Amino acid sequence: MRHAPIDPALFIANRRRLVQQLPAGSVAVLHAADILPTTGDGTLKIQPAGDLFWASGIEQEESVLVLAPSASDPAHREILFVRQPNEHLATWEGTKLTKERATEISGIAKVRWSSELPAVTHSLLCESTSVYLNANEHERAVIELESRDMRLGRQLMAKYPLHRYERLAPLLRRLRAVKTPAEVALIRRAADVTDAGLRRLIAALRPGVMEYELEAELAGEFTRRRSRMAYEPIIGSGRNACVLHYLDNDQPCHEGELVLVDVGASYANYASDLTRTYPVSGRFTPRQRAVYEAVLRVLRSSIARTTVGTRLRDWKRAAQVEMAEELVTLGLITAADAARDTAEEPACRRYFMHGLGHSLGLGVHDMAPVDGPLEAGWVMTVEPGIYIPEEGLAVRLENNVLVTENGPVDLTSHVAIEPDEIERLMIRPPATGGRV
Ligand code: GLY
Ligand code: MN
Ligand code: MN
Repeated sequence: MRHAPIDPALFIANRRRLVQQLPAGSVAVLHAADILPTTGDGTLKIQPAGDLFWASGIEQEESVLVLAPSASDPAHREILFVRQPNEHLATWEGTKLTKERATEISGIAKVRWSSELPAVTHSLLCESTSVYLNANEHERAVIELESRDMRLGRQLMAKYPLHRYERLAPLLRRLRAVKTPAEVALIRRAADVTDAGLRRLIAALRPGVMEYELEAELAGEFTRRRSRMAYEPIIGSGRNACVLHYLDNDQPCHEGELVLVDVGASYANYASDLTRTYPVSGRFTPRQRAVYEAVLRVLRSSIARTTVGTRLRDWKRAAQVEMAEELVTLGLITAADAARDTAEEPACRRYFMHGLGHSLGLGVHDMAPVDGPLEAGWVMTVEPGIYIPEEGLAVRLENNVLVTENGPVDLTSHVAIEPDEIERLMIRPPATGGRV
């Protein structure tokens, strides 16, 4: 693994939280993710399953966690199954987890080889009435491929059709939304890595630079800091920034444009997710600054509203109302348009058409109850924007905020965002071609 070792107390605490939710006589099964094929015999790099990682810290393919809190044999209450290392695997793929190493990572005392899973499952199911199986129930996921959880779950259901089967996802959704302090520390670290990448990007930003050259600055810095991209970064200059899911990143950044950079490092599978918008030539025009400051005001007041008990629908609506007023001041909509503003037909929609933010954690759009309410321990992105294709101009700003009983804590407050600060950071000696 690329990241530094993690204290297994994080995973022990998460398992304890999950087990508290499981009724007597139940067994829960969590699988690793499949390695996904590309073309020919190619595969993607493994993307560890968020739920299995959350509960065990295990990132190796084909691993299975079985939790049976009321098993009569105490040694069966928590078992991790991993594939047995062999010489062939060692030659072609390198070292696989030994049982001892798997215990060190996960804090699970009982580790067995995957080949033993059917026999252990059989004995556990003989004394259980229900089985909790996992599925990706992310509300926006478009799932065409069957996951390993689903495939192996179906096999289990075919073999033991008289058991009751239950969904793990609703339990994990509520639990995973609330981050422990150790998880928040990992998200903070991911955000710090993103900040380092953005600083490098600012140093490379000048008229004529290609969007992908800026991406290279980020990728280099993230890799050097034991991290990866949490998602495909969006680096769009000028009108490209108005395309919400712009991923080509293949155009030049022109003098006078703003470049929108939506990027997050993932450290130990915990994601950050930031957006900054920079003037390519080092200085905002008055119009760009006006749009930028409008977005920044909505960001700041939305962060202040990221509080315990807030419903996400109300949180977003408050930002829409505020944004409509900003759009009137910017001359983008009329006061009459703003007066017709409703939750069903928000007046800002033409220029601010996406959500205000989402839960962040293991994965960039993390699992969480769909409408909240926000609880202490949630980490939310806050990401208002204004997109004006007719002016070839867009601004989005995105910070990552921890909800606490004492109010919101911005985990990204140190990442340069004030327009004056950005202009200062972009001043460089004339020899490098920058603004003096
Ligand atoms: N980068 C994806 C998002 O902001 O949600
Ligand atoms: Mn983002
Ligand atoms: Mn986001």
